[in-house]
Order: sequence, then structure tokens, then C-alpha cells
Amino acid sequence: MLTDPSHKYRPFPPPALADRQWPNRTISQAPIWMSTDLRDGNQALFEPMDAERKLRLFRTLCGIGFKEIEVAFPSASQTDFDFVRRLIDEALIPDDVTIEVLSHAREPLLRRTVEALHGARSAIVHIVNATSQPFRELVLGMSRAEVLAMAIDAVRLVKQLTADQPQTHWRLQYSLETFTATEPDFAVEVCDAVSAAWGATPDNKIILNLPSSVETATPNVYADQIEWMHRHIARRDSVILSVHPHNDRGTAVAAAELALMAGAERVEGCLFGNGERTGNVDLVTLALNLYTQGVAPGLDFSDIQKVVGDFEACTGLSVPPRQPYAGELVFTAFSGSHQDAIKKGFAARQPDSVWNVPYLPFDPADVGRGYDAVIRINSQSGKGGIAHLLESHFGVVLPRRLQIEFSRVVQQHADRHGGEIGAEALWQLFAQTYLDVAKPLRYRCHQLFEHAQGQSIQLHIEWDGQPRTLTGVGNGPIAAAVQALNCLDGSVSVRSYEERSIGSGGDAQACAFVELATANGTTAYGVGMDANIVSASIKALISACNRLADDMGLCNLTKLNTSPAPIPANSAS
Ligand code: KIV
Ligand code: ZN
Repeated sequence: MLTDPSHKYRPFPPPALADRQWPNRTISQAPIWMSTDLRDGNQALFEPMDAERKLRLFRTLCGIGFKEIEVAFPSASQTDFDFVRRLIDEALIPDDVTIEVLSHAREPLLRRTVEALHGARSAIVHIVNATSQPFRELVLGMSRAEVLAMAIDAVRLVKQLTADQPQTHWRLQYSLETFTATEPDFAVEVCDAVSAAWGATPDNKIILNLPSSVETATPNVYADQIEWMHRHIARRDSVILSVHPHNDRGTAVAAAELALMAGAERVEGCLFGNGERTGNVDLVTLALNLYTQGVAPGLDFSDIQKVVGDFEACTGLSVPPRQPYAGELVFTAFSGSHQDAIKKGFAARQPDSVWNVPYLPFDPADVGRGYDAVIRINSQSGKGGIAHLLESHFGVVLPRRLQIEFSRVVQQHADRHGGEIGAEALWQLFAQTYLDVAKPLRYRCHQLFEHAQGQSIQLHIEWDGQPRTLTGVGNGPIAAAVQALNCLDGSVSVRSYEERSIGSGGDAQACAFVELATANGTTAYGVGMDANIVSASIKALISACNRLADDMGLCNLTKLNTSPAPIPANSAS
């Protein structure tokens, strides 16, 4: 273990900014978005996209609503050059979309870049050169003055080349690669020089892009650097201040958000954080984070699954299950306490009210996701989640004590088998536990008769496979059936009874829940379903008896009393 990393890693010192303003600000509007999926993102793939995949992703980006899309690095690859030409020659760029292309600040590359853009309706030429001291010395072998001169020369050349093509609406972006490790005074010097060389005005703004090409500091340091630039660069009204955060420390989204509070107006990044190494800032997360601040992002992710599908097909990468907003599991709760709270939140929801569902900061419907996956069941789950799944998938609303009873069954099953229990499997377990229990007793049919004490019943069952007829009398059919069943032992009583209907119209089914207690206080639920409510109730009684079979001594056939009850003439059912 490295006990003293200070000898090995030295953070770049932030600018002196004692009166920083950004901590008191909030984000009140969406930034200008720039997608660099087809350039920075593409450069970082095992296998860069071919023209067809690039075109598909370009169309997806246009569909999401990006108005500025960096489509290529045309001087670096023939595929990229040809792709830009195809977009222009085949008129594939929507009228409200501006394409952008990257070039290093070197004459032949800049000439090739402007050539690639010939005939575009509107275009952003993006010049980049590294400005930090380690890069100047290690990579470029240049002094500050030489780097500055290179930047100015590059801008002048682009100004001249583009002036020859007035049919295109040209804009310029200058990126100070490795900005975060650049001395602030030098960063300002370069920015001011290039915006002067371009002749930036409020009507013809230059985009000054300040990347954290490699993220090495906490997001507040980036925010300080951006605010410092925002306050020190000249011609501020002629500049669009842009950020391009990479994610080496895993905090690019936070860095971008704080940078926006610090004065940045534009953000460059990629879908799902694609890009070199740990990637660029994830524009999906950044955009959708705005929702919970009450700000419309101006990008449409209302069908996030489609965006995921296009992204995966084009890049060959996959979106992980915990990816904010887009991952398979991000709107799912497995744990019992979370499920319980979510279920209560859903139950209390009023149409058009402020979103307030515990543990779900964001409405899955806003990205086109349903509520089905919100609650999923495994050994960590509790009664609330189980009840929610049965209710939402099968319309069965369990009484509270049955929820508790059944959750123990689910828990045991999950502990034994591991893994997730899907809705179908949960229903099977429920049916197996309550609806299909036909041993030792099995319901066959019944008849009800009017009786002086209320009603009498003839209940036809099988007991261990043998047909029997039980009789009983009570103030209603359930009481009569309980008495009939008590012929078997005479010890159960009804502790609770509820019935609900499932479905509607001709297909409606009655569902009865009966909780029986034996003489020694053991209780169990039984559940019965039938188109007829009395049949459903009797089935529920028999289901409960079966579940209490040991306590009721139902294994002892000799106890059976089959003597018929007195049956009056008029049949009730
Ligand atoms: O990360 C970076 O600095 C870049 C520049 C080209 C903007 O990708
Ligand atoms: Zn980058």
C-alpha cells in the first residue's frame, strides 16, 4: 500500500478564488448540449463505427434533440472524412442541426478539415491544442509563446479558409486540451488571443471549450477553474463558455453541474458516458438530472430503451444495469423496507401532484419505463413488495395478515432456491400454497338449503381420495360449511373472512380469504377462487383446513361423521 501518495500524486493547484460565487447558485436552465459521440466516443471504441453505424447514431442523436453534433475527426481518418462528405452530399443533416469537426492546430490538417466541410449549411470548426506545462514540454516540445503562436496561426488560417466559402455559416470552437492542468493566466492569454484572432462579437460568438481532458481533482476545483475563467476572459459577451469533463475520478457529472453553476453555458459529452478511458460526461444523466431540479433539459429521452438499443448496436458497448436512468435495475427495489415505502408512495399518489414516491426520485414513466419492474422479489424482499406484485400483476389484494403469512412462504422459497422470483413464479407459489392444496380434503360441490336456523349444507368432498358428504347448519353458508367441516374434528373457528372480486364483467372471479384458528390457537389462511362467491368461500375454508390438517387431526379417517343434516325442501343454491 502506498502510505504517502503525496510523493507520487500532486493535484494541480486551483486558482485563488476566495469569493467564489458558484456554491450559492443553482442550475435554472439547460445548457447548450454538444454530443461528441461520433468523435470522442467513436475514438474510444475497440472498433470505431463504420459509416452505417455512425449514420444510425447520428440520426438517434438528432432524434433526441441535439443541435450541435461533433461528427468526425476528418483529418485523422478517411472514414471520418467520407462520413462528413456523405452527410453533406446526401443532405442528411436536419436544418436545425449544426455539425462540428475536430482538428489539431496544424496547417495541413486544418485545410483538410475545412475541405471536408465544403458545402455544409452550417458548421463548427473545432481546433484543439494542449496548453498545460507537462504537455507543452513533454508532448509538444514548445514554450508558452510557441503554443500561443500556434493557436493564433490556426485560428487565422481557419478564418481565411472559411471566408472563401461564404455559403456556409461558420463558427469556431477553440479547446484548450488539458485545460485543468494549465496555468490560469496562460489559459486566459490563449483564450483572449484566439477570440481576438477570430474577431468574436456578440453576434458571432466563439466557443471556448475548457476540458478536464483528464479528471484529477474534486468537482469543486473544476468549478473554481471555470468561474475564474468566466470572470477573467475578455469579450465575455462574445464567448460561449463550454466544458468537456472526462470521468477519470468518476465525478464528471458533478463536475459538469458545478461548472454550469460557475458560468459555463455549454456541455460536451457522450451518451451513457462513452469516451476515452472512463469516458466523457454522461449526457443522459446530466440532462435527466435537470428534471428533479424542475428544469426541462431540452433533450428527449422519453424512450430510453430505444436510445440504449441504438447506442449498444452502434458502439458495441453495453449499458450496465446500474447506469442512472437507463440501467435495467435503476427503478427496482428488492429490499423489503424499500418496497413497503414505495408501495405506500404509489398508493398515496394523486394525479398531477408533485412526484413524491419514497426511494424513487424520478418517475420511470418519464423515460418510458413502466412500473412493473419497480418491485422485484428475492430473499431480501418483504410483504409489501410481494403484495404489490400480486396486486399489480394479478389483481389480487391480500389481507394484511395473509401478506405476512405468505411472505414467510416466499422467504423460505427464496432462501432455498436463491435468485429472483418473477411475477409468474410468485403466482405459482401462491397458487401452490393456497389454491391448489387438495390434500387431504378436496372440494367437489355443495348444495345449500333453507333451514330454520338459517341454512344447511351438503358438502361433497374427497378425503384422501375417498368421496364423502358432510353436512352442517349455520346462520349462513360459511357458518354451515364450518360446522360441516368441524364434523372432521370440531375444533376450527373463523378468525377473519374477506372477499374481493378479480376482474370485471362476465370474467369476474370471486376471491375469498378465510383465516381459521384451531382450538390450540394455530391459525392459517385459505384462499378460494370461483365465479360463485359461496363456492369461492367454501374452497377457501377447505384450503385453510388442509393447511391446518395436522392440527385438526385430519389424517385420522375414523373421525369422519357423515350423518346427513335435516334438509328442508327448498334449495337455496
Ligand atoms: O478531452 C479533450 O480534451 C478533448 C478535446 C479534443 C476537446 O477531447
Ligand atoms: Zn475528450
